[in-house]
Amino acid sequence: MNATQEQLKVKLEQALVAAFGAEYAGVDPILVAASNPKFGDYQANVALSLSKKLGQQPRAIASAIVDKLDVSNICETPEIAGPGFINLKLKTAYLETQLNAIQLDSRLGVPKAKTPKREIVDFSSPNIAKEMHVGHLRSTIIGDSIARILEFQGHDVLRLNHVGDWGTQFGMLITYLREVYPEALTTANALNIGDLVSFYRKAKKRFDEDEAFQETARQEVVRLQAGAEDTLHAWELLCEQSRREFQVIYNLLDVQIIERGESFYNPLLPAVVEDLEKSGLLVENQGAKCVFLEGFTNREGEPLPLIVQKSDGGYNYATTDLASLRYRIQQDEAKRIIYVTDAGQGNHFAQFFQVARKAGWIPDDVELVHVPFGLVLGEDGKKFKTRSGDTVRLRDLLDEAVIRARADLEARLKEEERQETAEFINNVAEVVGISAVKYADLSQNRTSNYIFSYDKMLDLKGNTAPYMLYAYARIQGISRKGGINFEELGDNVKILLQHETELALAKYLLQLDEVISTVEQDLLPNRLCEYLYELSKKFNQFYDRNQGVRVLEAEEPLRTSRLVLCDLTAKTLKLGLFLLGIPVLERM
Ligand code: ARG
Repeated sequence: MNATQEQLKVKLEQALVAAFGAEYAGVDPILVAASNPKFGDYQANVALSLSKKLGQQPRAIASAIVDKLDVSNICETPEIAGPGFINLKLKTAYLETQLNAIQLDSRLGVPKAKTPKREIVDFSSPNIAKEMHVGHLRSTIIGDSIARILEFQGHDVLRLNHVGDWGTQFGMLITYLREVYPEALTTANALNIGDLVSFYRKAKKRFDEDEAFQETARQEVVRLQAGAEDTLHAWELLCEQSRREFQVIYNLLDVQIIERGESFYNPLLPAVVEDLEKSGLLVENQGAKCVFLEGFTNREGEPLPLIVQKSDGGYNYATTDLASLRYRIQQDEAKRIIYVTDAGQGNHFAQFFQVARKAGWIPDDVELVHVPFGLVLGEDGKKFKTRSGDTVRLRDLLDEAVIRARADLEARLKEEERQETAEFINNVAEVVGISAVKYADLSQNRTSNYIFSYDKMLDLKGNTAPYMLYAYARIQGISRKGGINFEELGDNVKILLQHETELALAKYLLQLDEVISTVEQDLLPNRLCEYLYELSKKFNQFYDRNQGVRVLEAEEPLRTSRLVLCDLTAKTLKLGLFLLGIPVLERM
C-alpha cells in the first residue's frame, strides 16, 4: 500500500464511523486498485460486505459513506457504481504535486522502513571442493537482489555465505590426495578448482567402492574435527583454493557476501545436542540422537526423526543449521533470517525450524523464512546440462552469455554502420551478457522452474535485460539529442499532465513505493521486474510518435515538464535495476 492509498483508507475509515457509528471503527474499507481504469484509480468495496450486517442495500450504504467522505484534496467527486462500489479517481493536480515531490527525492518517493531491523540473508552457499552449480547461481542472484532491496529499505542486512566447508567430503578428498598428489595438501595453489572437482569425483568413487579407503577417510574426518595439524592445514589449503574460484564468480556478478561456513559453528554443535537433551526433546534411536517431528511421517505413517547426532558421534547438516540459527539470534541479534535455496530443501528447513521452535529457541519477534526456488532446465525441458551431459560450469555459462551479447552487439553495429571503441564494446557486452542471465532468473516467479535460453534472455524485445537497458539508454538519448542535462532541469519545475499517456505514465511512476514494499514482504523480485517492464511500456506509449506526446518539440512549459517525466522514468529504471543487481548503460 502506498502513501496515497493509506491516506484514502484512513479517510474511508473515518467516513464509515461518521456514517454508522463507533462500532464500525477498524472495519476494513476494502480499498483496492480499480478493476477498470476507466472508472478511476481505486475502488472501495466495503459497502457490499456490510449489507447483511446493516440490513441495507449496498448502494445505500455506499452513498451514506460517500456523504461523509472528504477526499477532495486527493480525488475527484467519488462515484458509486455497479452493485455499490465506491470509485475514486485521483485528481490531476494531486498527481502533479506528488510527482514534484518525488522529483526532489533521491529515493523517488520510497519511504524507508518504519522499523529497521537486523536481517540475515543466507544465500549462495556453495560447497567447498565441489563445483558451484546453477542452483547456487540462482541462490546468488536472488539472494543478492533481496539483500539489496532490504538494504535500500534501511534494514541492517548481514549477507552470509553458509558454505559447506566441513564434513565427510574432506575425509575422502584428503585421503585420496595423500595417495595421488600429496603436494596439494601442503603447498598453496597446487590445484585449481577444475582439478579439485575431478579429484573429488574420483575420491567419491573410491569411497563408494573400497572399504579400507572408507575407513581411512572416516578417520581423516575425525582427525579434522579433533584439529590434527596436518589435516587442518590441508583442509585450509583446499578451502582457500575453492574460495578463490567462488570469488571469480562473485566478481563477475558484482555480489558482496561474507563467508561464514559450516565449520564456524563446529564448536557450538555439542551444546545443541545438550540443550535438546535438557529440554526433553532428545530421543535415542538405534544409537543416533534425534528429535521426532510432527507432520513428517515415513511410509508406514510413523513420525520421522530429525537426527542431530549420528551413532558414530558425527553431526549433520541440520545440526549445523540449528547451531547457526542460535548464533544468528543470540549473537547477531537477527530479527528475520532468510534462507535462499532450491525448493528441494523445503523439508530440511521446515524440520529444523520446527525443532528450534519446540526447543524454545525462537523468540516471538524473530521470523524465519525459507525462500525456495525452482530448477533451471535446459531447452529440452530436462535438467540443465552441457551437450556432452556434464553439469555446466558457472564460469562457462557466464562467459558464454557475454560472448553472445558481444556477437549481437557487433552485428547491430555493423547494421547501423556505427564505429565504437573496443572498450565500449567490451563493457556493453559484459553488462548485457551478465545482466541477461540475472534478469532471466529474477523475472520468473522464483518458485517455478525455468528454461535457460540464451536466445530468449538476450532478445532486445520482451521482458529481458537488454530491453530494459535499452529503454534506459533511449531516454538518455533524448537528453543527448536535445542537448539537455537532466540534472539541470531545475528542482521546481511545474509538472503538467494533459495527455492520456502522460497521466498513465505519471500514475505508474508513483507506484514504485508500493512495489518495493511488497517485495520487501513477499521476497519475490519478479514483481519488481514486472513493474519495470510495464513502466518501460508506459514510457514507450508516452514517447510514441503517433499515440504519445511530443517531448523535445513541445512548447514550454510542457516541454520541461515532459523532460522531467523522462528523467523520472530513467531514474526509476536505474534504481529498480540496481535493486536487481543490474547496472545501466548510458549508450548501448
Ligand atoms: N551448502 C548448501 C547446498 O549447497 C546450501 C546451504 C544453505 N544454507 C543453509 N543455512 N542451510 O545445498
